[in-house]
Amino acid sequence: MKTTGFKPLQSEKTDKRGSELESLLHSEHVINVEKLIVGGDGLGRISFKEKSLVVFIPLAVPGDRLKIKIVKAEKNHLRGQILEIVEPSIDRRTAPCEYFQSCGGCSIQHMTEDSQVLQKELILKYLLNKFIPNKDYNLLPTVRSDSDFNYRNRIQLKFENGKLGYFKKASHEIVDITHCPIADKRISIAIPGVKMRLKPSTELVRYELRINHLEEFEFYRIGEDGEGLSFSQVNNSVNKKLVEAVELIVGGLNPKFLSELYAGAGNFSFPLLTKFPNLRMESVELNPKLTEFAVKRVVESNLQKRLTFFTTDCETFVKRRPLSKEMVLLDPPRAGCSPEVMKSICNQLPNQVLYVSCHPANLARDLSLLLQKEPAYKIKHLQIFDMFPQTDHFETLVHLAKE
Ligand SMILES: C[S@@+](CC[C@H](N)C(=O)[O-])C[C@H]1O[C@@H](n2cnc3c(N)ncnc32)[C@H](O)[C@@H]1O
Repeated sequence: MKTTGFKPLQSEKTDKRGSELESLLHSEHVINVEKLIVGGDGLGRISFKEKSLVVFIPLAVPGDRLKIKIVKAEKNHLRGQILEIVEPSIDRRTAPCEYFQSCGGCSIQHMTEDSQVLQKELILKYLLNKFIPNKDYNLLPTVRSDSDFNYRNRIQLKFENGKLGYFKKASHEIVDITHCPIADKRISIAIPGVKMRLKPSTELVRYELRINHLEEFEFYRIGEDGEGLSFSQVNNSVNKKLVEAVELIVGGLNPKFLSELYAGAGNFSFPLLTKFPNLRMESVELNPKLTEFAVKRVVESNLQKRLTFFTTDCETFVKRRPLSKEMVLLDPPRAGCSPEVMKSICNQLPNQVLYVSCHPANLARDLSLLLQKEPAYKIKHLQIFDMFPQTDHFETLVHLAKE
């Protein structure tokens, strides 16, 4: 990674910095792109009054040499726009999807898949080194998607004024699409037919198009309150490998009782209970649609004595019941675990914590809280599951064990 020798501006007072940065608006620079950041922008630096200022640039690729214009001054950094690719990175490519430049669905299709994965690993390492600087870890090789395109088993599209598609990047304008290369082929080819069947609407409505558990295509409207919207992992091949990795860790420790927070419809619970006949679990999920589905499956699988599903928020749950002392499995949404949940886990300090995360910065924050409270936790397993190729998103599995 390239370093500049200039000191970063982080210690400066914000007001002075704000006005200093604003003076750079519309200025043009030639920069080298060092790395990708969370969100998928490239990071470069410009020197200004003997300081090094960070610039975030959409659609930049690490290794690019770019002519950019400063278009925005934020508190701690600048935003730039590419004027010219002076020298392209060896990792740059023409995005396979014709909508990529405008569509907000994917963020890094203009990078080779190998470089996408490398940058995701660097982002995770950077955040861990920042939030838990003294902790040893071994980042295992990333688990890749079987397919880098056509992997999504569900997509959500917006519909308004005859346009059906995703929002444009950083906008609420719809990019009208006829296909989507990251969606399952059966979903992608169905898009024009779905559009023809929709009633015209001048109000924005959202539709989910998916392959259901019977392997059939279906689509339905998502209500304003998110009705119809339920959580399931979007990439079957990577999800299977993620579940297997969790099974391997649980199998190696053989706990008798496991508490699972943010359980969804039992993506982990059912495989774990099927595999380990001596295991009992309690699983907590807020969305009643998901728990209704899960509870039916508990009865069908005759697991009533070994699995209890609670339809409630984890915050209320942890206030009312102690968690398993042996093992807790967490799979929160992007925001990470709430402060109430983290506080409770930090007070109870179970022997083993399995944390599945879809947001590396919030994962790093939560790990730092746990490790501050219990430095004896060791990171026994750390691995990225590249569930979302062509986007900057990824899943991470962490196993902490008290030693
Ligand atoms: C990333 S998903 C994981 C679901 C499941 N583990 C899976 O693999 O399919 C997060 C889940 O947490 C649920 N959730 C969000 N906030 C919650 C809360 N405060 N309490 C309980 N569940 C919550 C969501 O409904 C969603 O199902």
